[in-house]
Amino acid sequence: MDAPWWQTAVIYQIYPRSFSDGDGDGVGDLEGVRRRLDHLVWLGVDAIWLSPFFRSPMADFGYDVSDYCDVDPVFGTLDDFDRLLADAHDRGIKVLIDWVPNHSSDQHRWFIESRSSRDDPKRDWYVWRDSAPEGGPPNNWRRNFTGEARWERDPQSGETRRVAVPPDPDADTGAWTWDERTGQWYLHLFLPEQPDLRWDEPAVVDAMHDVLRFWLDRGVDGIRADVIHAIGKDPALPDDTAELAAVPHSSTNDHPRTHELLRDLRRLFDAYPGDRMVVGEVYLLDTAKVAEYYGAGDELHLAFNFPPLYTRWRAESWRRRIEEVAAHLDPVGGWPTWVLSNHDNARHRTRYGTESRARAAALLLLTLRGTPFLYAGEELGLEDAVIPPEAAVDPGGRDGCRAPIPWTTDPGHGWGPEPWLPFPPDAGIRSAAVQQDDPTSMLHLYRRLLAARGGSPGLRLGSMELLPAATGTLVWRRELDGDERVVAVSFSDDVAELDVEGDWLLEVASDRDGSEAGAEAPATIEPDTALLLRHA
Ligand code: GLC
Repeated sequence: MDAPWWQTAVIYQIYPRSFSDGDGDGVGDLEGVRRRLDHLVWLGVDAIWLSPFFRSPMADFGYDVSDYCDVDPVFGTLDDFDRLLADAHDRGIKVLIDWVPNHSSDQHRWFIESRSSRDDPKRDWYVWRDSAPEGGPPNNWRRNFTGEARWERDPQSGETRRVAVPPDPDADTGAWTWDERTGQWYLHLFLPEQPDLRWDEPAVVDAMHDVLRFWLDRGVDGIRADVIHAIGKDPALPDDTAELAAVPHSSTNDHPRTHELLRDLRRLFDAYPGDRMVVGEVYLLDTAKVAEYYGAGDELHLAFNFPPLYTRWRAESWRRRIEEVAAHLDPVGGWPTWVLSNHDNARHRTRYGTESRARAAALLLLTLRGTPFLYAGEELGLEDAVIPPEAAVDPGGRDGCRAPIPWTTDPGHGWGPEPWLPFPPDAGIRSAAVQQDDPTSMLHLYRRLLAARGGSPGLRLGSMELLPAATGTLVWRRELDGDERVVAVSFSDDVAELDVEGDWLLEVASDRDGSEAGAEAPATIEPDTALLLRHA
């Protein structure tokens, strides 16, 4: 098989603050990650993506970078990074870092210089504008993190859903901040502490490319590119239409300029040996649009596609998502990605509401056609932590999914005395230590699924075809060079018929402990479970 590694890999996202505390100060760090590498090898992941660990004032917990080429002391040093990278590579684990190109921190020296005077050579590195003719900000764009959505549990279905909340009419939700000293406004699609870089300035492109070379030369295998769809902007900065005026940064989404910038980026990556890759956070909730970011094989290697993450636990909804991906990505030769949880959204264990659905979802995620991304802790079935208002720290209300990972059963769960956020519910019994000893655990289920995937070319790279299936269920077939698997997922509250032509054996069942392997496939499927079948 000649596929590049990122097509067959399972990629595991680590939010460094929350993963593992190497120095016992209650905040996770790079040395903590290094010490858990053997656990990740045991689990069977192929690559890790590290959320930002660069120098940062932490207004957005590292997505506000003040030095792209150094490690924040809270996470360690560049030497710690090099050790982590070397030890990961020794174990065959690839390493992706998080590149934040749309904005820097307002404490980055580039911005400090830019705001120092209208004549500063770096003035045009950021987006500065005069007031609108009638006064006030240059346009009507809104910024992110203004409380425009929250997660709410529906008592009937048990699912947690994202609900739009109109912003507080008194809050300043605009995407512009007035700078007294130079008498102009600067643009920030996120916090005022995150000024947007102006990618039409060639020096910005050069500087950000230098950042990439710094890390690629050190040996990283690729990057996750933050908010990548927003870097190219219409220089006219037109107002949002009335219907979009409530949506943060809508006008700037999806400007053709971004595609040119991505082609330059791709050339930079292609000049390096060894299949270095870019996965882009294309936060456009439209798979047809996402498909465009693969270009003609000359833009992103992979693009996140978020509609499935926002899809409810319903067979018909998931069928549509799966069909959309094939319909839009196949024609452009885009290799799909699948993700259910990350550091920006309620975990899917919390969204779907039950352990059995989360187990079935694991089987679904790891058997679809494409590269799956796991978010650290989902393999433990963690729910979002309940955050008392006085403990909340994130301006975007995302603390719950960023709770520290419980490693051990003792009250500290492997962390320093005061972890930076509360632990998730049932941290002791969901700890990695407890689950490692229990073959019925979520952790062992993920391990079995990763092993099954690793052992099947059909699952890793094969075709995918949806088969006829009973109401409330989805059944699909994966195949490559005669290696075949069938997957059945029930989203139903009732037992459903499972009728697949041919003779099939169980390989993994989401509600079992591994002893099912090799048993005859059942004729029915239990509510909220999933089955992976192989030929008899
Ligand atoms: C992306 C990140 C998110 C961050 C934002 C601003 O959406 O995933 O965590 O807050 O970009 O950088």
